[in-house]
Amino acid sequence: MGWNTLDDMDLSGKRVLVRVDINVPIVDGVVTDSTRIRRIAPTVRDILAAGGKPILLAHFGRPGGERRENLSLNQLIPTLERAFETKVLFAADCVGPGAEAAAAALQPGEVLLLENTRFHAEETKNDPELAAGMARLGDVYCNDAFSAAHRAHSSTEGIARLLPACAGRLMQAELSALESALGAPKRPVTAVVGGAKVSTKLELLGNLIKKVDYLIIGGGMANTFLVAKGIDVGKSLAERIMKDTAAEILAEAESAGCKIILPSDVVVAEAFSSHAPHQVLPADQCPAEGMILDAGPDSIATINEIFEQSQTLIWNGPLGAFELEPFDAATNAAALKAAALTRAGKLISVAGGGDTVAALNASGAARDFTYISTAGGAFLEWMEGKTLPGVAALDQD
Ligand code: 3PG
Ligand code: MG
Repeated sequence: MGWNTLDDMDLSGKRVLVRVDINVPIVDGVVTDSTRIRRIAPTVRDILAAGGKPILLAHFGRPGGERRENLSLNQLIPTLERAFETKVLFAADCVGPGAEAAAAALQPGEVLLLENTRFHAEETKNDPELAAGMARLGDVYCNDAFSAAHRAHSSTEGIARLLPACAGRLMQAELSALESALGAPKRPVTAVVGGAKVSTKLELLGNLIKKVDYLIIGGGMANTFLVAKGIDVGKSLAERIMKDTAAEILAEAESAGCKIILPSDVVVAEAFSSHAPHQVLPADQCPAEGMILDAGPDSIATINEIFEQSQTLIWNGPLGAFELEPFDAATNAAALKAAALTRAGKLISVAGGGDTVAALNASGAARDFTYISTAGGAFLEWMEGKTLPGVAALDQD
């Protein structure tokens, strides 16, 4: 197993096809979160500094193989130019004569952006001909799109087999952060897994109980586990048909030596809305009309103690209905605790997933975490123990 980095490649005078993930949120043509764009800037800068010519390959949204103007990558050019501090040229297709001419004319110091790869239906089928058409535009392939590496597409997988390939700086950072959290981590390792449903995170839970010492479960998922323990959760969000599966996970965790932590007390409201009247109750005292929307103060105290004992933390999913105040309290308190321990050099903390990162940003904790992944689905699949095709294809041994 081994992949190259930019340092292993001869880039001088070379056209470097860089697969990036600039699938950023956009409202009325304005980029509302440019994190993914800022995070690829070191790769572009390092290629330019080595005398290479970066040619960016990327998807945007899910146009389903059709050219859709509102999903054109050209609207991102101003944001890219600001992040790279250099001019960004544009080719209106990611393959074909126009793209080839633009790639051939590219001058040192310039960056070329190719149009949305998903305007071709073949992209998501990992079509080899499309991959070959893209490969013609470059001398070297660099994959810096960890957050799209769970997709086996022409621009993430097929093309890596056609050119000398390497990982970009962001890809390197993502892989080493995840490796330090789940590969050979400092123990004890704690995972926080939250979110609405057990059913979408079954593989994740199954993998984590084999790897971590403490598994803290929060959000709607925790209610399903409470049900599995015979607790009545009233009107709370819970997947009651998953209760046997949840019970199996509890039993498996026990034999694997992983301690699962469920809320001991809960914040119960009568409606799913911000500032709904609420009370704190023991987890087994939810009234028939009540809805558990967050973990309570005793649970937070337990979580804090576990964080204090841990050396490594990996976090995916909020602990409560974090989008509704004040039911973001447990998520915020735990996030700030993890941030403080990290700042004090006592904890390695890694987090990923769209909702998770939004919650950590809102609490102000994100900036102190050791690493915040730009990935959602890919982060989850990595945590599930899956091989990501975009990463595997970089292995050129
Ligand atoms: C993402 O935003 O999660 C990645 O860019 C992958 O996009 P996709 O889920 O449409 O493949
Ligand atoms: Mg996705």
